[in-house]
Amino acid sequence: MKKVAVYPGSFDPITRGHMDIIKRSSEIFDKLIIGVLNNSSKKSWFSVEERISMIKEVISENEKIEITSFSGLLVDFMKIKKADVIIRGLRAVSDYEYELQLALTNSILSDNNIETIFLPASREGLYLSSSIVKEVALLGGDISGFIDERLEKIIKNKVIETRRGSND
Ligand code: PNS
Repeated sequence: MKKVAVYPGSFDPITRGHMDIIKRSSEIFDKLIIGVLNNSSKKSWFSVEERISMIKEVISENEKIEITSFSGLLVDFMKIKKADVIIRGLRAVSDYEYELQLALTNSILSDNNIETIFLPASREGLYLSSSIVKEVALLGGDISGFIDERLEKIIKNKVIETRRGSND
């Protein structure tokens, strides 16, 4: 039986840390579905279409990897996709409490049919988050160590757009 895993997240935007988790988990499972949360109540910099397009830009085509959005409960999305493993990256101890809460909630909601597997962040990904990328970009810092170079321009354009919006 094929083992299908879902790597869910906001990916606002995808960082080098996310890319590392995608690469490593796609080598472990038969299929990896990158589930991009489409949640109108959560304030994202990028629309779900933009976030998916950025992921497609940096993740080379691979028949084992599917990139798609989801809304509502993660467990419902997983049922539709016939997936039973959730992948989450773990950075510092500070991630643990929130991640444990997510993992236990999803386990209960799925009658213990869904397992969460944590992958430790690589050394390079340990300090990385989408929020840090956005903050550094907004303050004019160098984000090349945090995100793929193919996304730098898109992010810089978004900073200009955001600044224009806040000046209106
Ligand atoms: O990248 P993020 O923002 O840390 O990812 C969070 C995500 C998308 C994994 C989480 O918010 C999620 O699964 N949301 C879907 C709604 C849901 O299923 N909630 C119940 C579990 S708490």
